[in-house]
Amino acid sequence: MIKKFEDEKHLLKNELMDRLHQEFLDIYNSVDSNSTQSIKSKLTELYSHTQKHFQAEEELMENISYPTKREHKEEHAKVLAEMNYFINMNPTIFGQNMMKAYYIEKLPYWFDAHLISMDSDLASYVQRKEV
Ligand SMILES: [Fe+2]
Ligand SMILES: [Fe+2]
Repeated sequence: MIKKFEDEKHLLKNELMDRLHQEFLDIYNSVDSNSTQSIKSKLTELYSHTQKHFQAEEELMENISYPTKREHKEEHAKVLAEMNYFINMNPTIFGQNMMKAYYIEKLPYWFDAHLISMDSDLASYVQRKEV
């Protein structure tokens, strides 16, 4: 299962954020999507990577007094809570299918939407501040 890093869509021209987003996809793509165990372990790995990823972005927001940091942080907290929820789902067939659907359908959709909206706005705000 490969979700490519697409420059036109994902590249924000912010070195730190671009590296974090590339790393996210590297972990995401290293899953064996036929194995529930693999999905769970990659989701767990993504969770801890995403904690660092969000922390780095939030420090950036603080440093530049980013005006919509509250909304952006709330969105971060929401996705971490979601990931945590699916990681800890009951290991029933139903629970496993839910976790798989989340990994395959929802996460990549979230990734695109978040980068296109909130992260690209943050990156361009950083750029404007640096000029
Ligand atoms: Fe990000
Ligand atoms: Fe973000």
